Amino acid sequence: MIVSTTELFRHAYGKYALGAYNINNAEQTMGLFQGCMDSQAPFMIQISKGARSYTDKRMLEAMIRAADEIFPDAIFAVHLDHGDEEACMDCIESGFYSSVMIDASHEPFDRNVEITKRVVDAAHARNIVVEAELGQLGGVEEDISVSEEDANLTNPEEAEQFVKATGCDSLACAIGTSHGAYKFTGSQGLHFEVIEEIQKRLPGFPLVMHGSSSVPHDEVERINAAGGALKDAKGVDEKQFAPAAKMGVTKVNIDTDGRLVWCRVHREEFRDDPSNFDLRKPGKVFMAEYAKYIAHKNKVLGSEGKLAEVRAILNK
Ligand code: G3H
Ligand code: 13P
Ligand code: ZN
Repeated sequence: MIVSTTELFRHAYGKYALGAYNINNAEQTMGLFQGCMDSQAPFMIQISKGARSYTDKRMLEAMIRAADEIFPDAIFAVHLDHGDEEACMDCIESGFYSSVMIDASHEPFDRNVEITKRVVDAAHARNIVVEAELGQLGGVEEDISVSEEDANLTNPEEAEQFVKATGCDSLACAIGTSHGAYKFTGSQGLHFEVIEEIQKRLPGFPLVMHGSSSVPHDEVERINAAGGALKDAKGVDEKQFAPAAKMGVTKVNIDTDGRLVWCRVHREEFRDDPSNFDLRKPGKVFMAEYAKYIAHKNKVLGSEGKLAEVRAILNK
């Protein structure tokens, strides 16, 4: 059942984080729903601008509607990931999305406020909530690439001003992570001091962590052993999710890890069975492996087992 992002956030805030997982195709969608049912977790399903144009936005929406029928006990919100103003307006008007993200974080502060405020006004008029972004993560997303030198952590004082000026409902903050598989070298990790300071200034306000994939070492090793050429990739330490959630990080965005599972399964399948040309064989393995991965992720995020409570507060 598709529910409001606000309700999911209200239940999770300060206790656990909701996994926000990107989908692009039917196999990811099936694996995601199966994994969330296996772990009895509420979740966010997110669609990026790139995903909307990979096949067709109507294809993704139809897949989500179908998955909702196939898994009638699932409770989730549908979210636009990294939208520009045009994509946000389109999603708001479609009536299908629970929430949208306007990402104008590459713009100067005042212009970010101006664009975000326009989206917030349009979204709130339709009862849709808005995630905005302030600060810049490193890495690559869509057609925007931010070098490590240009990436900068969110300034807590600006975060307070930004939220008050725009009326946005949650904020994606740059707290040391980056998009993609190459996040950290050495022992870097999350900047808890930034999260703490933002929460002090904005008590009760949900924060969002982007670039949250953990890039499991064994996954990278298996990909490389099956012909891949990933460099020394490193992601977010899973032990950091629980303390971040207690400090108000309510939504944790994960995409790259799912792509790694896909890559490992397909490389191994074709290496081990070179005469196979049936897409359904690796596809089946991927759906099962992805479901397992999602269930594990929900466990470390703390959303595992929360479905019954969420259903009770929603009275469904
Ligand atoms: O943050 C970006 C997400 O991983 C989505 O990636 O824009 O390639 O679909 P994408
Ligand atoms: P990862 O690249 O770490 O999976 O981050 C995904 C993300 O932030 C989607 O918005
Ligand atoms: Zn992101």
